Amino acid sequence: MIKIEEQDLIDWLEHVRIYANNGKVADYIPALANQQPETNAVAYYPIGGEVIFAGQSQYDFTIQSISKVFALAVALIQHGEQAVFSRVDKEPTSDPFYSVAKLEVEKPAKPFNPMINAGALAVTNMIRGRNSEEMVEEILNLVRKLSNDETITYNQEVAQSEYETAFLNRALCYFMKQHGVITGSIEELLDVYTKQCAINMNVKQLARVAAVFANDGRDPDTDEQILPDHVARICKTFMVTCGMYDESGTFAINVGIPAKSGVSGCIMGSIKQSGGIAVFGPALNKKGNSVVGLRFLEKLADVKRWSIF
Ligand code: DON
Repeated sequence: MIKIEEQDLIDWLEHVRIYANNGKVADYIPALANQQPETNAVAYYPIGGEVIFAGQSQYDFTIQSISKVFALAVALIQHGEQAVFSRVDKEPTSDPFYSVAKLEVEKPAKPFNPMINAGALAVTNMIRGRNSEEMVEEILNLVRKLSNDETITYNQEVAQSEYETAFLNRALCYFMKQHGVITGSIEELLDVYTKQCAINMNVKQLARVAAVFANDGRDPDTDEQILPDHVARICKTFMVTCGMYDESGTFAINVGIPAKSGVSGCIMGSIKQSGGIAVFGPALNKKGNSVVGLRFLEKLADVKRWSIF
């Protein structure tokens, strides 16, 4: 068991916060452009212990692409592996998360993996519900269960802002609809997708969810199985191979834990048989990953020897 103390979090966050100067807050979703680059927070939720934290740990941010992991978990629970992987493949790409390029190569319109936007849209399209609200509820219910917090919901302003400007994601949907990879109303799908991306959480809530994945789907407090272990395993595998987009290989060498980032500046990581970590800092590097988050995880992973490799 790797021991992490609150003082570790405080010291290392203080050490790396200056790196916010090297990044830029995402502004392609207009409502995200208001985020302050100097905001930062981290929380660690140990398996069988008390959460520890540093920085602005009560600050709510939208989880953005981290929601792709949760939507994948819902689709796998509802439909099983065979159905999900008939729509989306399991291979990493070296392209940015929003890329259209690979949809036209090899298997027409079958996205390479569920962590790029095309793949995430295809997965969300599978979620059960009579309308978009019911589909969003399916994802929210899983997040509430894993975080043990019924209050979690989405940020209407950020969802609306992305919905109004998601032209590239609309293009991906139309391309995939033409090839039969997605079905139904594209506006309804974008409504669900932009709301799942806008789910509001703080680092403490997110660290608990990461701890469930670290504990192979079992509750970190009670050890009850609350997510099927094979679903947790598949999600963590995608986090390793594709979770940090086209920086996943570098992250695997420098940190070496299953992790997922979002363009709001959040990263969640699952440290096997130890716990879950969530770090937030909205200034991003060119790949769309939090610069403070990356530096923080690199430092702590080195000191605590987290790497699974
Ligand atoms: O689809 C989008 O562009 C966003 N809602 C999510 C992208 C994202 O978080 C990518 N992350 N690093």
